[in-house]
Formats: sequence, structure tokens, C-alpha cells
Amino acid sequence: MLYYGGDYNPEQWPPEVWREDAELMREAGVNLVTVGIFSWAHLEPHEGTFDFGWLRQVLDLMGEAGVGVDLATPTAAPPPWLTTRYPDVLPVDERGARYSHGSRQHFCICNPTYLDLAHRIVERVATELGGHEAVRLWHAHNEYACHVPYCYCEHHARAFRSWLEERYGSVAALNDAWGSAFWSQRYSDFSEVTPPRMTPTFANPSQVLDYKRFTSEAFFAEFLAEKQVLKLARPDLPLTTNFMGFHKPLDYFRWASELDLVATDNYPDPADPNSTPLSAMHYDLIRSLNKAVPWVVMEQTSYRVNWRERNVPKSPGQMRALSFQALARGASGVLFFQWRASRSGAEKFHSAMVSHSGQASPIWREIVSLGRELAGQRSWDAAKVSARAAVVFSWPNWWALESPVSPASDFTMADQLSWLYSPLYRRSVTLDFACPSEPLGGYEAVLVPSLYLVTAAEAENLVGYVNNGGSAVITFWSGITDEHDRVYLGPYGGPLRPLIGCDVLEVAPLAPGDVVEIEWADGTRTSASFWVDIAAEREGEVLARVASGPWAGTPAVVRTEVGAGSAYYIGTRLDAEGLRRIFDAIPALRNGLGETDGVERVVRTGAGQRYEFLINHTDEDRKVQLAAPGYDMLGGREASGTLELGRRGVAIVRTAT
Ligand code: GAL
Repeated sequence: MLYYGGDYNPEQWPPEVWREDAELMREAGVNLVTVGIFSWAHLEPHEGTFDFGWLRQVLDLMGEAGVGVDLATPTAAPPPWLTTRYPDVLPVDERGARYSHGSRQHFCICNPTYLDLAHRIVERVATELGGHEAVRLWHAHNEYACHVPYCYCEHHARAFRSWLEERYGSVAALNDAWGSAFWSQRYSDFSEVTPPRMTPTFANPSQVLDYKRFTSEAFFAEFLAEKQVLKLARPDLPLTTNFMGFHKPLDYFRWASELDLVATDNYPDPADPNSTPLSAMHYDLIRSLNKAVPWVVMEQTSYRVNWRERNVPKSPGQMRALSFQALARGASGVLFFQWRASRSGAEKFHSAMVSHSGQASPIWREIVSLGRELAGQRSWDAAKVSARAAVVFSWPNWWALESPVSPASDFTMADQLSWLYSPLYRRSVTLDFACPSEPLGGYEAVLVPSLYLVTAAEAENLVGYVNNGGSAVITFWSGITDEHDRVYLGPYGGPLRPLIGCDVLEVAPLAPGDVVEIEWADGTRTSASFWVDIAAEREGEVLARVASGPWAGTPAVVRTEVGAGSAYYIGTRLDAEGLRRIFDAIPALRNGLGETDGVERVVRTGAGQRYEFLINHTDEDRKVQLAAPGYDMLGGREASGTLELGRRGVAIVRTAT
């Protein structure tokens, strides 16, 4: 069964509306709703006084309507009595200013009072409602580390010090890891260490990196504590929490191993022409975080969000097309924020499955029609998305790479990812993501965008992968620092140097807008921008060189045979044509399903069947050439030769393998 539904916040409505909700959910084919997510103030109206009656009534209604419940813990929004009575639960920013209540996510994850009260409400939710027959899934919290990932209060300072003591054992080891000889930062005792609060200029980057690690782990520890309580009450229920795709503060690779179902919230901006490939990339990441469990889209919008400057809506059909994008990339369901549009509050103008105008809205027709369409589809749910190549990605690298002390402080992971991912998306090459330490042998090729921070073990894994016959594409600013963000000395590249094939001696970020020419071995030229490595040749074969500007002559693309495999090092930001030449040389990156022209193509296979998803993301009709005849499952007809897809149209063509 594919999950279909959304966040349901019944406390915002009187009971008559709940009954109508249950009716409408049935009409729309809703089979899962997330409840309780912001209900703390209604479940515990006064400290220690609980009221579960109203929510039990809602669960009864859901049960009668055949709608499953994803029961959430309400810990992302402490009630006003809590923060009034215990104001130090409120987080503190880097300047020492305390946040107020009146919004959400206003708690400090290291505050013992918050933790005690949070565990108590979680425990009560679990024991009072966990046994209800409508409950199908546990949902811990909402978007951990969403609005206030970093708190700088004294509770954090204490917890950070203990974490450091545990990690380093001695202050001498801490000084060594942080390079504290610089700017007289040498510590004589752990008690002197603070979170990286506001400083006159750049804080110690190793300290900042450790604070990011510590914060990710502090949230993770709290998630595990909630999980333990929930699983104690109902070990048989699967458990999830909603991720946010490329959410920088939390190392989701670490978290996902603790989930039975990975869930994500995705809000691509319809006004951004690049948002469709970025949304695909988001889903590829989510699918890859825990390759052994299913995943869902826990939140998307039916039409429009309310938190951008200009909230451009999805055009007719686009919600369906984007839902199928997720399903094509492996999702086991699509859900929305939220079921019914709020009447008051900060999100009253965020679209929902049921609009302010109710069933008269065109959104309702789209919601009902997608719900019915999905209810009839299940055969491809068990089929796997097959990716022959993966993008190597790590959160610690992301944290360290985007540093204000870098040669280019506008160096972003997002740019690096989209530079490599978008052209492959356009040729319909489906990519997984992989963390640098995981076994890579199942992939024919890996892309390694700017793996600036790399541990010796990660580098060994990557070098071993190539040695054993893999192909790697590694881009500039890789292998620069160790796990403490200390530079590997010698030519840049550290333990990745066997894959770099030349000696990177200096790096040169280019002025914004500057472009250099690149000359390939056959004499043809392309261009590059942003960054140039200044490198001396070594054992690798130089495929292209910088051909203009002060660094003319330096190798730009170097191929190195390593054992049974090969590595391509790219020392500059090649243009699309330059990248194409490299991708063309690697079978797993060359043999996509073809150029998209706005039509996304993804294949899932399983049980002797091949399901090709074709999604027209444009507002025009498109014709697509099919490789083989098959059966168009949504259209209910045989398909061969050229398939016509109307604007925002979707087809799933099934063929036997
Ligand atoms: C998510 C959040 C929801 C809602 C939604 C609006 O980040 O989990 O509660 O705020 O955004 O787009």
C-alpha cells in the first residue's frame, strides 16, 4: 500500500469538523495522517495535568474511517506554561540573547528540565494512545534542529565540555586537534572551553566543526531517548521522524540507521527552474540514507507554501507530477503539510489538502484524483530504483567545507552537488548517494564532489574502491584536511593523492564572473570558472589544461589508472560541455535513458518487471521515444514507439525483464 495523507491538526478545529474531516479523508483515499505533532499544550494543559480524551476521540474517528495514524510526539513546541515557569528551557543565540515563546522549536536540547518534561509527555502519549488500533506508525518530534539548530547557553557549554573530554581524553589532545597554538587559544583546562559564541573575528574552525558534531549528536541522543520510550510501549510499530533533505545541522546518515521508515519534507520552489532536479536529488539522498528500509515524503505542499518572499504555487498537474517524481525514485507514499488549511496562526496561508474554500477549490479535485489513482497502484512499490553510480557525500565534510576561513567563503556544497548532479539528471542517469565510509563495490562509478575533509579510513575506502575496478570522478578541494580540519601537508590531496594523479600545489579562486579557457588533448576548447588548481604533473594522464589567464598550462583534468580502476580529477569548475566529455568516458554515467527535454525518466525493477516512469515537468506536450514496447499502467493502454505526454503528464511503462 502506498501511504497517502498528511499532517492533521484537529486541535485547531471543533469536533464537528473532525467528523467532516474523516468523511473527506475517505473520499480522498487518505490512509495515513500524522497527529499530535504540535499538541503538547492540549495534551498537558497544565504541568502534570493531562488530557488525552479529545485525541482518543480523533483516533476513534480515524479508525472508523479506515485512516491509519502516524502518532507523533509533541516535543517540538513546548507550551507557554513550560517556558514561563522554566525560562532557561528557551535557547540562547551566539550573542547571548534568549529566544521567546510564541512560535515553535523554542527549546534547548541540552536543558535537563526540557528533557525531563519532554520524556514525560512522550511516555504519556505512548502509554495512553500507543495501543489504539488506528495507530500504525510512531513519529518522533518534528524536524529535529529545524529553526534553532545551535544554542549557546550554559547547559550547552557544560554538555559540550563533557563531550570533548570524552572525545579527547586530555586537554593536550584537544589543543592538538584544534591547533590552539594559533592566536593564543591554548587551553589549560576543559572548563575554559565555550561553545563558539560571538567572537571578534573568525572562531577556531576546528572548534566550530566539533560544535557541529556535538550538536548533531545531542539531537540524536534525544531522538534515541524518545525512540526508546516509544518502542518500549509498542515495539511492533515502525518508527520514523521527518527529515528535511539536505539539512545541514544533522548527520542523517547516522540517524537513518535508527529508523524503520525514512521520511522527508520537501518544498521545491515552483519559481526556480532548477528546483525539479534539486528535488530529484533530495529524493535520491533520502532513498540512500538507509538502503535497507522504505522511505516516504512526509510533507509536501498541495499548492503553495507561505514562507518564501513570493510564494509561487504549483501549476495545475504539477503536484501530481512531483508526487510521481518521489514515487519514481522509490518513495512508498506521499503526504502533505497539512490536511486542512489553518484559520489562524503563522501558516494560515500555507496550502493544504483541504483549502479555506473547501471542496470547491481546484486543489481538492487534484487531491482526490491523486488519492484515487494511487489507491489503485501497488505493483511497482516493491520494485527497486537501480542506480549504477553514486555521489559520495558526508555531513562532517559539508560542515568543514563551508567555512568563512576558506579560500572562497562562497564555496557551497549545494553548488558543487548541483554542478555534477544536474547534467546527469538531464541525461536520465539515476544516482544514489553514499557516505565515504560505506562499501562502494556495488557501484560502477562514484562522483566525489569536493571531499575537503576526509579521514584516513574514508580515503582508504575510496582508493580501495578504485583499485578494485571502480571509476571515481573527484573534484577540486578534495583531501584537504583531516577529521579535525587540520591541513594534510605536502601537495594537496592528503590520503586521496593516489586518485588525484597530479601535485596540487596552490589553489586560485577566480573573481566572480571570470572564465578561463580549457584546452583538451584533441585541441578543442571549453571553459571553466570559479576555481583553478595550480598543479604539477605526476603519473596521471592530463586530459585537459587551463589555456588562458595567469595559470595557463596547469592540468585541469587528469586521469589516473589505479589498480583495476580509474580516477578522473577535475581541478576547476568545468562548463557543461567539459563535464559531458568526462561523463561520456564512464559507461555508468554515459548510458542514461537519454536527454530529458523536461521529461524525467527513472527505472524501477523487481520481480521480473521493469517500470519506467516518465514525468513531463513542463507546461507543454512532449513526445518520448520508448526503448521497448510495454504497458502504460496509468493510461491503461499498450505503449510502443513514441509516447505522448501532455503537460505535466506522467506514464509508467511496464515491460517484462
Ligand atoms: C515544515 C514543518 C511543518 C510546516 C511546513 C510548512 O517544515 O514540519 O510543520 O511548518 O514546514 O511548509
